[in-house]
Amino acid sequence: MKAIAVTPGQAGTFLVDREEPLLHAPDEIVVKVLDVGICGTDREEAAGGRSKPPEGSQELVIGHEMLGIVQEVGKAVTLVKTDDPVVFTVRRGCGHCGACTGGRPDMCTSGDYTERGIWGRDGYQAAFVVDREAYCVKVPQELTDIGVLVEPLSVAEKAIDESVLIQKSRLPYVHDAAGVLADRSILVAGLGPVGLLAAFALRLRGARVYGLDVVDEASPRASLLTGIGGTYIDGRKHAVDDITGVYGKMDMVFEATGVAPLELNLLDVLGTNGLYVLTGIPGGDRTVQVHGAEIVRRLVLNNQVMVGSVNASRTHYATAVDDLLRARQAYGPAVDRLITQRLPYKDPKEAFMRQTAEEIKTVIQWR
Ligand code: BGC
Repeated sequence: MKAIAVTPGQAGTFLVDREEPLLHAPDEIVVKVLDVGICGTDREEAAGGRSKPPEGSQELVIGHEMLGIVQEVGKAVTLVKTDDPVVFTVRRGCGHCGACTGGRPDMCTSGDYTERGIWGRDGYQAAFVVDREAYCVKVPQELTDIGVLVEPLSVAEKAIDESVLIQKSRLPYVHDAAGVLADRSILVAGLGPVGLLAAFALRLRGARVYGLDVVDEASPRASLLTGIGGTYIDGRKHAVDDITGVYGKMDMVFEATGVAPLELNLLDVLGTNGLYVLTGIPGGDRTVQVHGAEIVRRLVLNNQVMVGSVNASRTHYATAVDDLLRARQAYGPAVDRLITQRLPYKDPKEAFMRQTAEEIKTVIQWR
């Protein structure tokens, strides 16, 4: 079968021939891949940036945002049957830290985890893949068109969940159960797939969502946000310091840009007791000059929290599936419009190049 690979550390993607994967254990599931999304991490890998091949190999099959159809199940599998749409999760635990043995490899403390398609384990840009039932998430038939968005949405769901847990526990008298997000002002910085999916999840929970990007108001990214009741802020017209003047201080900032200087500047818009959650992973090693004392002073004097969030647990995948269904009910086909491009796997080069302003999510099709 065909698969798309990179040589970690070198720029470029290429097709490789691999053996079709077989069942080796009773709890395994063979999946025929339908769609695999491309995100900033894949593009970073394709540009020769952060990625690691499996032990003993020079090549890494990339791809971590997948949707497929069950082809065959091992004898012990009860979660799914042949022809069910499914998604496999990304991270595999180290097997020895408390987080991983407790079922939360997304919070692995040893750093010895692997990630399919990214770090030490082949990914999903292939005609067939196999993995264990424990890493499989069932997707309803009606989401077969957009189920590939489950993984990026799971990343947003985890960041939101972490933020709510933190705010609820430290401000129990200020925020009742519904109040951490409902009617709060939340700035989503970066309207790529993760930012926009976060905007959907936050709107579904009643938040006032402001979205910051540097695209035209009529572009797909900005109009998707305004279409679900969000307010678009064009970063080319508003410097970070005038956002507060126009829109007020934010209760929360959800960052999904991966642009380090902006990530730090955005602390400026955060209100007292506010929480800032970062999900963008900046590439490269360019240094950034910041006013350190001012940042620390603000965090301390305003009781602010800054938290990073990566990957997601299976619970967050399940929330993502629910939210895709809810988003369709609430906003019709708006969420479907996140997928702006579908390309055949046979000529993937173009797909891994840098993103254009019109593009939101590009999906490689293995159908
Ligand atoms: C993926 C995560 C992964 C992270 C770091 C992101 O693009 O969505 O699953 O943990 O990269 O490798």
